[in-house]
Parts: sequence; C-alpha cells; structure tokens
Amino acid sequence: MNIDYNSQNNTFHLYNSKLSYVISVEKNQFLVTQYFGKRIRSFNMSRRHWQYDRGFLSNPDNADKQFSLDVILREFPDTFQGDFRTAAYRIRSEDGDAVTRFKFAGHKIYRGKQDLSGLPQVDGNENDTLTLEIYLLDDIRNLKIILFYNIYEDVAVVTRSVKFINDSTETICVEKLLSMNIDFLDEDWEVLTLTGSHLDEKRQNRRAILSDQIRIESSRGTSSPQATPFIGLLKPQSNEFVGDCVGITIMYSGSFEATVQKAQFGSIRTQIGINSDGFSWVSNPSESLDVPEAIIAFSDEGTNGLSNEFHKLFESRVIRPQFRERERPILINTWESFYNAIDETKVLELAKVSKDLGFELLVIDDGWFKNRNSDASGLGDWVVDGEKFPSGLAALSKQIREMGLEFGLWFEPEMVSKDSNLFKQHPDWVICSHRYEPINSRNQFVLNLGIKDVQNYLFEKISTIIIESKVTYIKWDMNRHLTDLFSAGLSNSQQGELSFRYTLGLYSLLEKLNLCFPDVLFENCSSGGGRLDPGMLRYMPQAWVSDNTDAIGRINIQEGTSILFPPSILGNHVSDIPNHQVGRITPIQTRFNVALLGILGYELDLTCLDDKEKFIIKSQIDFYKSYRSLFQFGKFSKLYSSNSNYNAWQIISKNAELIAVVVIQKLSPNSYRVPIIKLAGLDSESFYENIESGEVFGGDELMFSGISFERVRTDFYSWLKIFKKVNK
Ligand code: GLA
Repeated sequence: MNIDYNSQNNTFHLYNSKLSYVISVEKNQFLVTQYFGKRIRSFNMSRRHWQYDRGFLSNPDNADKQFSLDVILREFPDTFQGDFRTAAYRIRSEDGDAVTRFKFAGHKIYRGKQDLSGLPQVDGNENDTLTLEIYLLDDIRNLKIILFYNIYEDVAVVTRSVKFINDSTETICVEKLLSMNIDFLDEDWEVLTLTGSHLDEKRQNRRAILSDQIRIESSRGTSSPQATPFIGLLKPQSNEFVGDCVGITIMYSGSFEATVQKAQFGSIRTQIGINSDGFSWVSNPSESLDVPEAIIAFSDEGTNGLSNEFHKLFESRVIRPQFRERERPILINTWESFYNAIDETKVLELAKVSKDLGFELLVIDDGWFKNRNSDASGLGDWVVDGEKFPSGLAALSKQIREMGLEFGLWFEPEMVSKDSNLFKQHPDWVICSHRYEPINSRNQFVLNLGIKDVQNYLFEKISTIIIESKVTYIKWDMNRHLTDLFSAGLSNSQQGELSFRYTLGLYSLLEKLNLCFPDVLFENCSSGGGRLDPGMLRYMPQAWVSDNTDAIGRINIQEGTSILFPPSILGNHVSDIPNHQVGRITPIQTRFNVALLGILGYELDLTCLDDKEKFIIKSQIDFYKSYRSLFQFGKFSKLYSSNSNYNAWQIISKNAELIAVVVIQKLSPNSYRVPIIKLAGLDSESFYENIESGEVFGGDELMFSGISFERVRTDFYSWLKIFKKVNK
C-alpha cells in the first residue's frame, strides 16, 4: 500500500496489492482521472490521446485548443466552466452567482484517516490506511474544497469524501456537493443497479449504457427499497467469476443520487452523493461542510470477486468491532406469529417452546406498547401496554431470561402516530409545513431527528427500557418516508438542509446508543430491507433483508442483497405456509435452506406446530448451530448453474475446510435437463468429502466437472450439501 506523488509528471498513484488509482494535475490546475483498476506498478501516461482539437469545445486556455474540460477525465467536475456533463458541485454566492473556478492548490499525504464530522466512516488507522488530501482553491472567492482519498492495506477499495470550507466573508449556499466523481476513458461497460420495492428489494438490473445517462436516486429521506445507493460498472464479458467490475456505494442512509453518464466522445462518468435535488446548505464565513464517504471497489474476478471485496470491507472495517466475528443468536420473532394481537401469555408459551427447540433469542415485535392494536396508533410514547403485559416488560424479560433465552424488542423510534400522547404534547416535533396537515403513510408521521430534543427524548425512552428490561437486541424499524419537508426551526434559506440534518440526527442518536450499550445487537429494518445501506451498517451489524419471507420470492432479493452485503449481517427467517406475503406453499426444508445463508431466525407460531414439525425445526436449529460460523462468516458466491430453473449458492468457511452448497429448483421441469452446478474457489489438489454420503471428490472434479442432482417432481425443492476437506 502506498501513495506515490511523482513531481515530474504531477501524478498521484494510490495502490495496494490489488488496485491502482492514478490522478494527475493538468496545467497545474485541473485534476484528471488517469486510471482506476487492477494494480499496476507505475503509470507513465500511456493513455493521453484524448488531447486533440475537436472543435466547438470550450478551452480554459485559449492558446491550447486541444485542451477542453468537456473532454478530459475529471476527478471533481465543476459548474459553468465548459464541462457540460453532470457536475459534482454547485456553490452560489449571496448575489446568486454560481460561477466558481477552483484550481489545484496542493496536497498532503499521511497515515491514518481524516474525521468526517457526524458521519459514519470506514475504519482506518495509521498502520493500515493512507490518506491523500487534494486542495482545490477558488482564490477569487476564498473558497476551498478538500478531496479526501483513502487506500487500505487489505481490500481493493478506495474511499473518497469531500469537505467544503468557506474562507470568504460572505454566506455561501452549497447547492450540490457530491462525494466522488470518476471518469473512465473506456466506454465499454454495462451498468448494474439494485432497485426494487417493498417485498422485492435489491432487484439486479444489468444493461448496456448507450449514448445516455442512468441516474438512480432516492428523494425519500432514506436510501429506500426503491433504489440502493450502488452502481456497478461491469465489463460486458464479465460474469460471476471473471471480468473487470467496479462497484460504487456510499456510507449514507438518506436521499442520494448515483449517476453513470456516457459522454459525447464515449467516456463514462460515475458519481455518487447526497441527492442535490432538494438539497442546499448555508455555509457562513469560516464554516465547513463534510459530505458522506463514497466507497469504490474493484475486482477482475467478476461480480463474486467484487462482492467479496465489499463483504471484506464491511466485516472488517464498517461493522462495529464488538460484533466483528461475533456469532449471532438464532431468534424467534413474534410478528408473523401474532401481529399486534400479542400478549404476555402468548409470549411465555412461545418462549417455552422456543427454548425446547433450541432458540437463543426471543424478539417481541410490534404491538407491545400502549394503544397499539393496529398500525393506526401508539407510536411515539413507548410505554408498555399493561393490559397485554400485566407483569410489565422487566418481569417478562426476567422470566424469559430465566428460561435461558435472550430478550429482544421492536421499536420504530423515528415515528409518531397522530393518536399518541407524544403528538399531542409535541406536534412541533413532526416534519411538516405549518400550513398543512402532514401526509399520512401507514397512519404515522416522521419526527424531526434534526431537533436535539427529539434525539434526547428517544435516547431517554429507549435506554430506560434497555436497562430496565435487560434488552440485548433491538429491531429498529422505519416504516415510512419523509414528506412535507419543512422545519420551523430552520431559516428560510436553510430549508434544503432538513433531510441531511435528519440523517445526521439519526446517526448521532445511534452513535450515542452504541456508545452507551455497546453489546446490544441492533437489527436494521425499514419495512424489510428498505434502508439496508453501508451507513446503517456502521450502527447496526444485522439487517432484516425483506418482509418477503417466501423462500422462492427471496432468492432474487438475497442474491441482489449479497452483491453488497455479507451473510454475517443478513437476517433471514423461516415462516409459515401459505406464505403471508405471496401465498406460496414451499417445503420447510427449502424455507430453511434459503434462510440459512446468513443469520437464521423463525417467524411463525411455534406453539401451533405438531410434534413432527417441532422435531424438524429442532433438527434444523441443531444443524445450523453446528455450522453457524460457516453460514455466518463464510465467503459467499453465487455459483454457475447450467439451467436457469436452478439457483445455486456456495459458502466456504474462513479456513477453507468446509463448503456448503444450496441449490434450489424453482419449478418441477417438464422434461429433465440435468442441472450441473460447478463449485468454486476450492483447492484443486485437495479432496472433499460429502458429509452426508461419505463420498470423496477431488476439488478439481467438483469445480470443473461439477455436481448434478436427481430428478425431483416437486416445485420449490432444494438441496443442501456440505463438503469437508479430507486428507487422502
Ligand atoms: C415492518 C417490518 C416488519 C414488522 C412490522 C411491524 O413492516 O418490516 O418486520 O416489524 O413492520 O409493524
């Protein structure tokens, strides 16, 4: 790992063993992306033929018609300077003038990382991280931009962020300040996005980019199930295992924008940052503004390779240290068992059966607090419903813990129901315009987390319950998006700050809770995986992937989610049939096989099961426990399948001794075309035993010849095979 500055040709070369990123300074002013990709030893300007006079372009130096900002590959493109592709920032003075002219003004290289105030960051220390700061200065206006670049010892990832500093004497309005921009000279890429909806999160969309632009965004105040803050650039020839792939995401959970734009002469612009639509920030003299950290990853080993870089980064540098490699408990959740019709008797009966079956954590979902018999009321007060739970939460938790289970609880802290005491006392805490009643969504309004008193109130409520009831797990839900964006507490010109301030307020509350309760496991939920993004991961090392608990429905959701996120954070539940979301009836083995690639949980009324069903679930739990670290911390890959009716997943333990393969047959086929599944990443010289049958195969055979499966005349069938490395 190093950052070389070559003063001869004015280039910066950031590299580690896997990745190189080269930036140059042209004409002593303009930053140019020279290269981002597989590690190279040095860069000696092998590609510079973009420089010729194309005519009809703007030229910052009139004596040099070959040089135009509209053509060069840029690191942080400006506004109104003749680069007509999308800009990375727009900054306006009091008189309305947004023409700015920032020029390169120096750099600094150091060990460790900068601090971004109030924002979650990838961890980096003096031993394993280097930082490059590049200074851009508008010396007419006395404005400064710092571009931060971080390179890490062990992952093919660069992180970037930006600080704006107002050294002038006037108030400046920052209308757009993205976190990164990279332009690629090579135009031959396909674009991968992860968009979707509630019950259908992180759908993979892969297509060519033609002479146009792909922009994905959220203006919902959260990253959202509709659009994940992620764009992938994939070589058209690439697949799960081979080919260059670049992935870009961001440590941010609010409204974002991400763009891939093919320019007139074919280069590709990529950007990610806070959504500039609706955003603005007032910067007074000597104030500064930090924006979220972007993550840019590279792999030449296809989408699995790219995912593995993200997984490694998140597991080792984003999840809080307390939870790195800490095995997660097997939980039973009450939502699909009882919904809001929950009470003490039901919970205790459920707890008893759960304990017998081997569960470790009982989670009371929605419905435990006063005035919560439906989703029409009750949010905000966070007082236990004494009729449903006459002994109170602390006593119930004690009984559950005495049975040998941990106690977990659902909260939706960011919300308030109109029918609640909190709303009566503090209507001013709701995000809304004073002119209108706020828009309802799931019968609830959003609390303005940008207000310190709101943060303090929520901290007080949640921490009291954690302490009194010895809660070791919290499912933190967020079931609606932000509307009516107005805050009486902000000035006229600050209204564009509301959404960003909301997210900063959320982070500050979560930071405080993490600090005070370092061992409480937070599971991130937003109507399922609606806010499953790297920013939230910093505070919550577990995430509910989707409200869709149907095994077949989840195949694509889990595959899409695994593009970014490792199994160790993905909460999956086995639920009842017919499935409550899609009505499908699937075998319990398939529901289990799909759920076990991650953190296993169950969400069904165990007290209604017959003995045979209980036996099956107990056996599943016992099985999962004996391979838990494989399923939670192994290396995940989507496998090549010769037939699209079959999805195949593999997970290899950290020491590469154990391999689990799950294959799902979606429908019973009309005629049988034998599915061939090829394992990956094994040692071709070693042998592996199928632990069920005792058969032994060479790693080369499993990878190159592959395994096949018998004909089973059932829809939604699945197989789970475990192989163990053996000496032969
Ligand atoms: C959301 C969550 C569910 C459940 C309900 C409770 O939909 O995603 O898992 O907690 O809220 O209201």
